[in-house]
Amino acid sequence: MALNKYSGIYTKDDSLPASQAMLIGSGVKEEDLRKPFVGICSTGFEGNTCNMHLNGLADAVKIGVQANGMVGLRFNTIGVSDGITNGNAGMRYSLVSRELIADSIEAMAGAHYYDAVATVVGCDKNMPGALIAMARLNRPSVMIYGGTIKGGEYKGQKLNIVSCFEAYGKKLNGTISDEDYRGIIRNACPGPGACGGMYTANTMAAAIETLGMSLPFSSSATAVSPEKNQEALDTGAYILNLLEKDIKPRDILTREAFENALVMITVLGGSTNAVLHLIAIAHAAGVHLTMEDFQDVSNRVPVLADLKPSGKYLMEDLSALGGVPAVQKTLLEAGLLNGDLLTVTGKTLAENLENVKPLGAEQDLLRPLSNPIKSDGHIQILYGNLASKGAVAKISGKEGLRFEGPAIVFNSEEELNDGIAAGKIQPGQVVVIRYVGPKGGPGMPEMLKPTSAIMGAGLGDKVALITDGRFSGGTHGFVIGHVSPEAYDGGTIALVEDGDWIVLDASTNTIDVQLDEAELTARRSVWQRPKANVQSGVLLKYIRTVSDASHGCITDLQDEAYVNARETSPS
Ligand code: FES
Repeated sequence: MALNKYSGIYTKDDSLPASQAMLIGSGVKEEDLRKPFVGICSTGFEGNTCNMHLNGLADAVKIGVQANGMVGLRFNTIGVSDGITNGNAGMRYSLVSRELIADSIEAMAGAHYYDAVATVVGCDKNMPGALIAMARLNRPSVMIYGGTIKGGEYKGQKLNIVSCFEAYGKKLNGTISDEDYRGIIRNACPGPGACGGMYTANTMAAAIETLGMSLPFSSSATAVSPEKNQEALDTGAYILNLLEKDIKPRDILTREAFENALVMITVLGGSTNAVLHLIAIAHAAGVHLTMEDFQDVSNRVPVLADLKPSGKYLMEDLSALGGVPAVQKTLLEAGLLNGDLLTVTGKTLAENLENVKPLGAEQDLLRPLSNPIKSDGHIQILYGNLASKGAVAKISGKEGLRFEGPAIVFNSEEELNDGIAAGKIQPGQVVVIRYVGPKGGPGMPEMLKPTSAIMGAGLGDKVALITDGRFSGGTHGFVIGHVSPEAYDGGTIALVEDGDWIVLDASTNTIDVQLDEAELTARRSVWQRPKANVQSGVLLKYIRTVSDASHGCITDLQDEAYVNARETSPS
């Protein structure tokens, strides 16, 4: 089979001279026109540690692609950083950026007939965006993760990005000096790399490596390590192998592969954002994955890794112990992972791990199955009159399994921040943050600033939070997000009033407000949808197209028939 199946459309004969002229004019040698074309997309940009080094890695990918007899053509797409947008209106663009990334990579590779795709990505939404595009295009593809950041340090205290938010909470509380507050900010991010705990970026990187769509060690090698640059250089050889064997993303992104990924994020105590992202990637791959699948895995798989945000270690610490492959090997030997599944190496997961050592008693980052941190998964899917389509809780076990109390309601993140600063939050309350869902936000912003401020104010284990928005992967405490239907769509969360009694129970997986149906109906009859927060542009398009959180907040929701049919490439 010709390896230039797509690019051959315009290079195979003389019938498309303009295409060939433009390629030659842009530096492709005439004798290379019939080689496979590999689109190399980076989300590199300045001004953010997660993405600042990605264009350099994309250059290395190109070197490896060219060295393997193919033509590498770099292009960029956007990459919104949650670390920078958090706590202000910019955050509304974050989840939206996942769709923009997916759409732009699909459009670029589809329009220019690239035979294969490599994506170099480094932040929360970059990775799922890239995977969605690869699954839609279904051409041989590899994702290269930009890598995790090294930890910072200030006055002997190890730092990561969440340290800044917690310091802000202390500042509000008057328990940190200005000098130490600035000292923490100055030292939290010592160079390139994505946020270092088991927050969303590292969660998705580990999930994607376990799905089989990145090379072994991709998710745990630090951004500044020689291994990371070598991974980028090596990618070309693997892409050539995928082309020769005609291995495409949907051959790798099977239902069983998603089950493996769910096991990995559970064992690692990963971010709840993975629920949205993996459902969205699965939809693009034609795999039917639901919130119930996360609950099924949570019911049978424990949390083993002592990683931040609720634990003590960073991804760089796991890297030093053997990285994600060492965790995979441990889980494979325990029968928790399916090792027979194909990966981008062209080999199975078990074959990739042949020479990898499992983690043993010499370390305390990954507990043995006989002594887990939590005997079931931390991601719990709750249903009830507050969330008929589901809500996502992250229960580490430290905060208990049940919380009930009177509601205190805020209609925006800003309102909540003002409420915290004014000392309105009292121990025992259930803090409700609504109209911050996929449509209401819009863009389902993360509540990192308020949750960190609540932590810093010493209320972290004394209140619960529920929202139709999201929580950052850096959040811990009794928090429930993704409440669906969202307030903007008239979900019950829109009807809650201050003082209503709310019961959250992670042992029965329920989320209810203690109001009878007659009262809810009466309130619903007078409820009015608020005016949309935006009147134009990409956010308005998003409001018009985005699915609810239970379907992954995707903008091209198809019916079940499509998902089951596993259709092939759109072009
Ligand atoms: Fe990029 Fe956290 S802001 S990974």
